[in-house]
Amino acid sequence: MKRLENKIAVITGGNSGIGLATAKDFIAEGAKVIITGRNATALNAALKELGSNAQGIALDVANSGQWKQFGEQLKALTPKVDVLFVNAGIAKFSPIEATTEELFDEQFNVNVKGAYFSIQQVLPLMPEGSSIVLNTSINASIGMANASVYSATKAAVLTLIRTLSAELLSRKIRVNAVSPGPVTTPLHSAGKRGVSEEQSQQVDESIVRQIPLGRFGRPEEIAKAVTFFASDDSSFILGAELIVDGGMATL
Ligand SMILES: NC(=O)c1ccc[n+]([C@@H]2O[C@H](COP(=O)([O-])OP(=O)(O)OC[C@H]3O[C@@H](n4cnc5c(N)ncnc54)[C@H](OP(=O)(O)O)[C@@H]3O)[C@@H](O)[C@H]2O)c1
Repeated sequence: MKRLENKIAVITGGNSGIGLATAKDFIAEGAKVIITGRNATALNAALKELGSNAQGIALDVANSGQWKQFGEQLKALTPKVDVLFVNAGIAKFSPIEATTEELFDEQFNVNVKGAYFSIQQVLPLMPEGSSIVLNTSINASIGMANASVYSATKAAVLTLIRTLSAELLSRKIRVNAVSPGPVTTPLHSAGKRGVSEEQSQQVDESIVRQIPLGRFGRPEEIAKAVTFFASDDSSFILGAELIVDGGMATL
């Protein structure tokens, strides 16, 4: 039997990068997935790629006006959600002197507030024994210059593995986190970084020098860790963080 047979999974930000790779892995393990994405075109393209075991809901997690509607749309699509992968996120680096209130709020609104209230909307559909996996980052624990706001958002999310595991104990809902190191996804594109192609390449090169394995991770390598937390293979694990980073945070 496949590891996620008969399971229904929701993945926020499932139209790209780690979220999309995880959707593919969940489906390969027998699950049906519901992905969310901001951009309808990207969402539809991902759904086409994922095939008949995937459905989609358009959601901007930073828009509080959409949260309730998301919960209602989800309820109309499925009677239960066994796995929630809280993955939608952005990363914008800047030295503290240059950080604007707008940049600060944007990242907290997506990465913290969006994550928190997405969980709140999905929880009523989660049966006993279900699993929540949070996508945090090694930035929650390491001292990387120019990453102060992003790191603070991920550190905030990381605390939820313990507080929510305690709060949801009576429902036997386990909450764990994967903390990736640098992974090749559109998050590192020049466009999403807001820099030129040349600058972006220089950033990539400087990051690779800091990774003991000497390369970026692949989205599929993070997906495998998420599937572990999503499945009963991790049935005795809650409140845990799994670092998947080629040794960057620890060696
Ligand atoms: N790549 C890395 O090196 C790395 C390392 C550690 C942690 N992470 C974390 O991994 C997660 C996924 O990132 P990724 O690397 O896979 O990058 P990605 O390919 O850019 O994917 C990010 C996903 O989040 C979605 N998203 C962003 N803002 C949103 C919003 N306001 N509402 C709804 N969806 C939103 C994106 O949608 P759009 O396509 O519409 O933008 C996209 O689907 C993030 O939480 C990131 O912090 C990534």
